Amino acid sequence: MGTGSDMAKLRLGDNEYDLPIRVGTEGNRAIDIAKLFAMTGHIALDDGFANTGSIMSTICYIDGEQGILRYRGYPVEEVAEQCEFTEAAYLLIFGELPNGEQLEAFRGNIRRHTLLHEGMKAIFAGFPPYAHPMAILSAVVGALAIYEKEFGDPGNPQQRLLAMHRMLAKMPTIAAFSYKQSVGQPFVYPQNDLTYCQNFLNMMFAVPSEKYKIDPDFAEALNLLLILHADHGQNCSTSTVRMVGSSNVNLFSSISAGIYALWGTLHGGANEACINMLENIAADGRNLGKYIDKAKDPDDPFRLVGFGHRIYKNYDPRATMCKAVCNRLVKRFAGQDPLFDLAQELEEVALSDPYFIERKLYPNVDFYSGIIYRIMGIPKDMFTVLFCLGRLPGWIAHWREMHLSPDKRIHRPRQLYTGHTKRSVVPLIKR
Ligand code: ACO
Repeated sequence: MGTGSDMAKLRLGDNEYDLPIRVGTEGNRAIDIAKLFAMTGHIALDDGFANTGSIMSTICYIDGEQGILRYRGYPVEEVAEQCEFTEAAYLLIFGELPNGEQLEAFRGNIRRHTLLHEGMKAIFAGFPPYAHPMAILSAVVGALAIYEKEFGDPGNPQQRLLAMHRMLAKMPTIAAFSYKQSVGQPFVYPQNDLTYCQNFLNMMFAVPSEKYKIDPDFAEALNLLLILHADHGQNCSTSTVRMVGSSNVNLFSSISAGIYALWGTLHGGANEACINMLENIAADGRNLGKYIDKAKDPDDPFRLVGFGHRIYKNYDPRATMCKAVCNRLVKRFAGQDPLFDLAQELEEVALSDPYFIERKLYPNVDFYSGIIYRIMGIPKDMFTVLFCLGRLPGWIAHWREMHLSPDKRIHRPRQLYTGHTKRSVVPLIKR
């Protein structure tokens, strides 16, 4: 396949086809194969979608080779350091940073809807004490499709906007209630005079029997972490939200599906899995060499969790910021988290090993984020729930972008069939 200035040429046997080249605003290029099947009778095959752009999007730019991540053009580092989470959410969803008036109106729309329908408490009560909070989160967000059903038409701009506000408002409440249910404590209702992050911490950690003081360093660290997780292009969960939403189902059901996609250990579940791994290594005499060897052994399924990324072939910029936050918090709570030392040692050993160097495997966002959560007193099984809180604006922004696109159509990949050719059913008695 050769490329002209704005066309790629594809030769199949004696025939030659022109395929348009699309150029992104950062100069990245894509061959548009939307008409490939109609023109040639061939489909494109790309296991795991590693080289497939499913949409054109204006939300997030990633350069994995350089380790760059930008939200709507702004470097993630600047957004994380200078914005409050709802400000970053506004930016991702609506495309521009809000002015003071716009932000206050947006926050007001979120604040008004933080309470859940009282009937939903019965749903939490029905879950057994061993239920994972991610399973509860997804199930209860799915149930919003019942309780908020008047906002279920994604084709209606007014309903769409209200659904987005309500989703942002209720997610922290559902997340905190999931935790409270799992530890058998009473639910703490939202307090609308607090910021998004303060309110979440209060609902997580306050109890009716004593005063709870929100630690400003924890609220700040949480704000930064949520922003760092807020969007990341067509990752597994965001693609899931778009895929499910493309059928025109409501926002709540689309987000519920995205939460399940994020739960897996190859995706958002890696932050919990990473702490488990560090704890195992610590309990096993901090034998780093043994675990590095296991990670390198092609016959051993063990992988260094928190290392490697489909897109980043350089240090994940989010991991750099997480490591800096770890450093700040560890200084304040000196000696409270030996796992941070272990993680840094592991990083040093891995980054000087040819296996990791050749494959360009660097720490990803999940390598250090779990350590921050641990210092904040957040239990391991809530780590991925916090990832969901952070990723929510990105999911919503993509869902909205899809519904505003004049080219929107149902997502429906094809497959190359490699099973049996036609055969006849043998009656049961003869099999
Ligand atoms: N430890 C050891 N080897 C690894 C690791 C790792 N963490 N990650 C990749 N490799 C190796 C693979 O074995 C493969 O080696 P090979 O070429 O000899 O076969 C090579 O590096 C390329 O890896 P792939 O699996 O092809 O990369 P892919 O893009 O499919 O996977 C993924 C990316 C899933 C993130 C992978 O690096 C991984 O499993 N990492 C650990 C889990 C993790 O940290 N997930 C969080 C990702 S970030 C996020 O979702 C927020």
